[in-house]
Amino acid sequence: MAVDVILGLQWGDEGKGKIVDYLAKDYDLVCRFQGGPNAGHTIKIGDDKFVLHTVPSGVFRENILNVIGNGVVLDPITLLKELAQLDTSGIEYKDRLFIAMKAHLILPTHRYLDAASEASKGKAKIGSTLKGIGPTYMDKTGRNGLRIGDLVSPNFQAKYEALKEKHLGMLKLYPDVEVDFDLEGEEKKWMESIEVIKKMNLINGEYFVNKAIREGKNILAEGAQGSMLDIDFGTYPYVTSSNTITSGVCNGLGIAPSAIGEVIGIVKAYCTRVGSGPFPSELDNEMGEKLRRLGSEFGATTGRPRRCGWLDIPQLLYTIMLNGVTQVVMTKLDILDEFENIDVATHYSVDGGNATKELPYDLCDGDIQMITKSYPGWNKSLDNCDNFNDLPMETKSYVSAMSSLLGVPISMISTGPERRKLMGVPR
Ligand code: GDP
Ligand code: IMO
Ligand code: MG
Repeated sequence: MAVDVILGLQWGDEGKGKIVDYLAKDYDLVCRFQGGPNAGHTIKIGDDKFVLHTVPSGVFRENILNVIGNGVVLDPITLLKELAQLDTSGIEYKDRLFIAMKAHLILPTHRYLDAASEASKGKAKIGSTLKGIGPTYMDKTGRNGLRIGDLVSPNFQAKYEALKEKHLGMLKLYPDVEVDFDLEGEEKKWMESIEVIKKMNLINGEYFVNKAIREGKNILAEGAQGSMLDIDFGTYPYVTSSNTITSGVCNGLGIAPSAIGEVIGIVKAYCTRVGSGPFPSELDNEMGEKLRRLGSEFGATTGRPRRCGWLDIPQLLYTIMLNGVTQVVMTKLDILDEFENIDVATHYSVDGGNATKELPYDLCDGDIQMITKSYPGWNKSLDNCDNFNDLPMETKSYVSAMSSLLGVPISMISTGPERRKLMGVPR
C-alpha cells in the first residue's frame, strides 16, 4: 500500500492542513487531488502562520515533493500570491512543487460567472467562496475546459478567447444581476501569471505518481473541503463541485484503488460549517457563539464566521463509511476546555420517527431532531499536556467514548494549532 489519505469528515476546516504538515515528515510526496483555492489550510510554525489554498501542505518539510494533481482546479493568480508568501518567508519550493498538466485552469470569467450565479440565487445561494470552482468543474465535465497543458499549446490564445466568449454569453443569462468585476484588470494579471506557471515543473501527473508508487515511495494524498461537501454524497446542492471523498484520490491523481493505504479522517472535536445548507447539530445560540469565539471559527479563505454545533455521530458514521476510514485524528480538543458539559448528537429522529443513525435522503427536507448525550467537560486547560497520560480523566474518557461511538480508533488528538500540539492515543 503506497498512498495514504487525509481528508475531512465534516464540512471542511477540520484542521487538515495542520495534520498534513505534521505527518508529511514521514512521506516522500504530498499530493492535492481535488478542489482548488476554495480551500484554506492553516499551518502554524513557530510564530509564523501560513494559509495554503492550492499548494500541498507538505511544502514546509524539506526534501518532500509536492504535487498539484489533475483533479485540482488551479487559478494562476491565487497560486502566485501563495508562492510569493512562501518566497517572503524563505521557503524553498521551486524544485519540489509539481503541477499535473491535466489540472484544469480557473479563468477570470469563471470567477465572474460564480459571482453572477450566486448573486442571482438570492437567499438560495450556496455560500460559495466565489473562487470560480463550480463554473470551472462545469466546463471540465462539459468538455470545454482549459488545462495547464494547454498553456504551451500553439493555439492556446484561440482556445482561451473561445471559452471567454462562451462565458460572456452565459453572463447574459443574469441581466438583472450587478456584479462588480474588473474583467480587464483580472485578465491582465491572469495572462502575466500564466507566463510564470509555464516555467514551473509541469508533469504528466499520473505517470509521476505511479512511478513513485512503483519505487516504493510513501505518498500522502491531502483532501480539501470535507466529505459533507462532496458533489455526490454531500448536502446537495449545498456542496462543492468535486469528489472530496477517498474515491476522488483515484480520479484526482490517476492511481488505482488498490494503491490506497491508510485513510485518516480528520474530525474537529465539535462541528462547523461555513456557507449555506443544512447543519442538523448547529447551535444557533450562545453556546454556538462560545464555540465560535473560543475556536476562532472564521473562514481561512473568506473570513466569514463559521456556523458552530456539536459533534454529530450519524453524520460521522456516514462519512467514515463513504471513505473507508481506518483511523481518526481529532483536532481542537482544547477549544472544549471551558465547557461544563459536552453534548454529542448520537441519533436523528426524522419527522417524529424512531431514533436512527442513518442520514435521510436529503438533510434539507423534513424535521430533523437530534438525540443528544452529554459528557462531563474537564474544565481545565490542556495547554500543559504533552502526552495522552497527562490529560484529565474526563478528556481521556471523552476521546475513548467518541472512538467507541465511531467504531474507528482515534489515533491522535490535537490540542493547539502548533505542530507540537499533537499526541498519540494509546490503543
Ligand atoms: P483545514 O481547512 O482543514 O486545514 O482547517 P483550517 O485551517 O481552515 O481551520 C482550522 C483552524 O484551526 C486553523 O486556524 C488551525 O490553525 C486551527 N487548529 C488546528 N488544529 C487545532 C487544535 O488542535 N487546536 C486549536 N486551538 N486550533 C487548531
Ligand atoms: P477547506 O479545504 C469549508 C464551502 C463553501 C460553500 C460550498 C461551496 O479549507 O476545508 P465553493 O467555493 O466550493 O463553490 O463553495 O463549500 N467550502 C468550504 N467550507 N472549508 C473549505 O475548504 C471549503 N471549500 C468550500 O463555503 O458553502
Ligand atoms: Mg479551511
